[in-house]
Amino acid sequence: MISPSLSPNTDYHDVLQSLRMLISPTQWKEGSALTWARQWFSQRLAEGELAFFNSGRSALLALLQAFGIKVGDEVLVQAFTCVAVSNSVLWVGAKPVYVDIDETYNMDPKDAENKITKKTKALIIQHTFGIPAQADKLLSLAKKHNLPVIEDCAHALGVAYHGKKLGTLGDASFFSFGRDKVVSSVWGGASYINDKCQIPNAKWKLREIEKKLQYPSFFWIFQQLLHPIAFSLILPSYNIGVGKAILVALQKMKLLSFPVYPEEKSGQQPDEFPKRYPNALAALLKVQLTKLDQLLQQRRACAQQYWTALKSHPEVQLLPFSKEAGWLRFPIQVDDPEKLLSRAKQSGILLGNWYHNTIDPTGVDYEAIGYKAGSCPKAEFAARHIINLPTNVIPEEASIILSYV
Ligand SMILES: Cc1ncc(COP(=O)(O)O)c(C=O)c1O
Repeated sequence: MISPSLSPNTDYHDVLQSLRMLISPTQWKEGSALTWARQWFSQRLAEGELAFFNSGRSALLALLQAFGIKVGDEVLVQAFTCVAVSNSVLWVGAKPVYVDIDETYNMDPKDAENKITKKTKALIIQHTFGIPAQADKLLSLAKKHNLPVIEDCAHALGVAYHGKKLGTLGDASFFSFGRDKVVSSVWGGASYINDKCQIPNAKWKLREIEKKLQYPSFFWIFQQLLHPIAFSLILPSYNIGVGKAILVALQKMKLLSFPVYPEEKSGQQPDEFPKRYPNALAALLKVQLTKLDQLLQQRRACAQQYWTALKSHPEVQLLPFSKEAGWLRFPIQVDDPEKLLSRAKQSGILLGNWYHNTIDPTGVDYEAIGYKAGSCPKAEFAARHIINLPTNVIPEEASIILSYV
């Protein structure tokens, strides 16, 4: 069974740490792991302010608040994104204005320029799948129009662009530690404001926002700690039906969380966001961050294997290979993705269906989040034709996956 889309980063180190934390509830909210994570990030980013939250969406929300984005403002976001990004903009009362993508699956600088109005107050540069956006063009556009830039590094921890670390290019950035991200603590996120940011008091506001927030409930933390343990049981027995039964049962008992809450699909804000980042999850993050180089190396090697195998394939569209990209997923475009996905599924390979919607996941109410069908044709085309091959697999598994393409 290759099931790279369900909790892909988890190994026995994570399971052991979850078990250790489960029996130490006095350390669930505050503790030394959070201090460790803060130091880890501050050593790797330029001088600035860091804050930690219970998700990437909470981290983005805090940045928008610290930048004073409010009702009546517009924020440029790319289409071909997660509803969590649109929602953070909506939750401060502003309007997400969707920009079409270029051939890197990131914001198209030309379309971005067309969408700037007097109400535009910020630009969010997403580095989709860890593939850097055309940051130099987008940064000079932002400079020309005097717009602050927030980099969405939810897929791009540890990645560089022309030798410069992603997350340090703009005024601010945020990272996600969600279950399917570069490193995972099931939920979590960090915000960062660069010292070069000119917005008055933004760093102070970010610090205050983090300080004043509450921690998530004990039950919520318990749910997340259970996740790596549950998946260590579910994945090995998924093929024989036992794993799937455990998964469904735990979800029915509401003991496992979904990556998107149902109300978020129509732009609403669940009570769970924003909250502070609990120490229990920082302890999971610590285990993962110590493996970051190894995880990135594996993903890049896997992407190289896919690219070499597929570069001359007549029915597959590929991006040029980049050694700098983080390749959280390896995107290919084919005529009929469903055919390929279901063939792989029949053989026990769950390839997953990331970004098969212009605004992901399936079921998002486009009207509620302000996306007009037809307004970003390239993003819509990509969503209809993409398959994201998993990159957290060993070469033998990658070869099996390639046999389905
Ligand atoms: C590009 C992008 N940005 C932001 C987020 C939000 O991160 P989180 O799930 O940690 O809230 C996601 C979520 O998957 C994402 O794909």
